[in-house]
Amino acid sequence: MKKVIIIGATGTIGNAVCKKLTSSGYQVITISRSSQISVDISDIESIRNMYKVIGAFDDLISTTGKVAFKPIQEMSYADFMLGLTNKLMGQVNLVQEGLKYIKKEGSFTLTTGILNHEPIALGSSAAMVNAAIEGYVKAASLELREKARINAVSPTVITEALDKYASFFAGFKSISADEAALAYLKSVAGIETGKVFHVGF
Ligand SMILES: NC(=O)c1ccc[n+]([C@@H]2O[C@H](COP(=O)([O-])OP(=O)(O)OC[C@H]3O[C@@H](n4cnc5c(N)ncnc54)[C@H](OP(=O)(O)O)[C@@H]3O)[C@@H](O)[C@H]2O)c1
Repeated sequence: MKKVIIIGATGTIGNAVCKKLTSSGYQVITISRSSQISVDISDIESIRNMYKVIGAFDDLISTTGKVAFKPIQEMSYADFMLGLTNKLMGQVNLVQEGLKYIKKEGSFTLTTGILNHEPIALGSSAAMVNAAIEGYVKAASLELREKARINAVSPTVITEALDKYASFFAGFKSISADEAALAYLKSVAGIETGKVFHVGF
């Protein structure tokens, strides 16, 4: 049975991804800041410790990452740094450190989102960070051809999160977390690498 680490496993997307992978026959290791084996992706030592505890694994899925949502003229250096140190470098470091432990033919799947393709007000940091992650995934897939596959999933707004986000996404189609989870399963179970799986747009 393949061992899949899921970071952000208690979240809106992560929870659906855990259910999808478990029902598809994977052994899922559920991780967040509050799980028994925990990680804070903004802290590289915390990432290193997590991998030391888990050891070898087949696939890693990241369904976490924070950015600041603010009008661009109010975005401070610290606001931009949140997205860079958390959603961007947090996910990049999961890959960089995970390369020491991933098994042959393993995969990494990171999470971006629609906002670098269809920007919204307050979303400059999200757009910037998503595009950076997608650039990293493309370049890393080429260098890692013999080592591991790497993809990103880019969902539109999730229906279950509309209570928080509906006012930001007027006119956008939403998709269920379960539909988004299918793209993560496709990334893990399939053969593609360097791909951004768009879901719902
Ligand atoms: N929701 C949407 O509509 C949507 C659409 C497109 C893209 N996305 C992207 O998808 C990702 C997940 O979104 P979501 O709405 O599912 O998030 P969420 O419901 O807020 O869940 C976040 C998950 O990550 C964990 N987490 C938070 N900070 C962490 C950290 N520093 N280190 C490790 N784990 C951490 C949380 O658990 P703990 O608090 O226990 O750590 C939780 O399991 C984000 O990158 C978001 O930008 C979301």
